[in-house]
Amino acid sequence: MSAPLRIVLVGTGRAARHLGAAIAKGPHTLMAVAGRDAERTRALAGELNTSPADLRSLPPEADIVLIAVSDAAIGEVAKGIGPQNGVVAHTSGASTYDLLLPHPHRGVLWPIQTLGGGDALDLGGVPLAVDGATPQAVEVLERLARDLSGYAIVLSEAERRTVHLAAVLTSNFPVFLVGQAQRLLQRRGLPHDLLGPLWQRTAANVMAVGPEAALTGPARRGDQATIQAHLELLGDDTDLRAAYRLLTTMIMKAHGHPAP
Ligand SMILES: NC(=O)c1ccc[n+]([C@@H]2O[C@H](COP(=O)([O-])OP(=O)(O)OC[C@H]3O[C@@H](n4cnc5c(N)ncnc54)[C@H](OP(=O)(O)O)[C@@H]3O)[C@@H](O)[C@H]2O)c1
Repeated sequence: MSAPLRIVLVGTGRAARHLGAAIAKGPHTLMAVAGRDAERTRALAGELNTSPADLRSLPPEADIVLIAVSDAAIGEVAKGIGPQNGVVAHTSGASTYDLLLPHPHRGVLWPIQTLGGGDALDLGGVPLAVDGATPQAVEVLERLARDLSGYAIVLSEAERRTVHLAAVLTSNFPVFLVGQAQRLLQRRGLPHDLLGPLWQRTAANVMAVGPEAALTGPARRGDQATIQAHLELLGDDTDLRAAYRLLTTMIMKAHGHPAP
């Protein structure tokens, strides 16, 4: 059996917290957590039962330095940590691993999951997309990904960017629309939790029967009268009205109905 991987986690935000918790409870060794803010670094290291480290003097024997910081900071942080013998990886779906130059064994470990506040997520079954500039980087990151979730997938940069776009369509846009829907209810003094069971059942149906069969609603049915009534209700909300009209038009086109 191979020795456990020794991992240093860089970052104290959402991704770092969830990935750190998964690493800490798995078969590998979370050697340290490093971040730019000493207090947040100490707090996360304490939560994960490991040591805080200074960004400029990471433990040199790490097999993986996993940089889970904001995309815009990855390059600066990678340059600042000095030469590493092991693999240096970031956790972004949208960024090239060349942000990690000049580290030779650079790569990516991207969780295809939304990592928000709240309890540490169970990463079991969550696809972890891996890529790397060298066979060593891919091999080590694939091993870690497999041990964290049981679902490692090697994706090239072009593939990863496509999956990232698809992930935004799947997660971010619907979540934003739910927020807009709740705002509509609140403005009229209606309880926002009216939509909870609908949101949960919708996601469950998409998983059970696929989006094509799960789609319901006036645009799918070609119900012009209801659509016009909704557009009128959105009269003073120009952005949401435009979004409603565009999405409705896309659905109606896809189902052979004339556009509203
Ligand atoms: N959250 C998700 O759903 C998710 C999912 C998959 C992948 N990711 C990826 O994970 C990475 C981190 O995202 P996140 O959601 O965890 O972001 P986040 O919660 O906003 O945390 C960002 C982290 O980056 C640190 N940081 C920012 N600028 C820095 C700098 N110049 N030097 C050092 N540290 C710096 C922040 O430090 P401070 O705390 O000191 O500000 C914080 O620890 C991103 O590449 C993102 O694409 C996120």
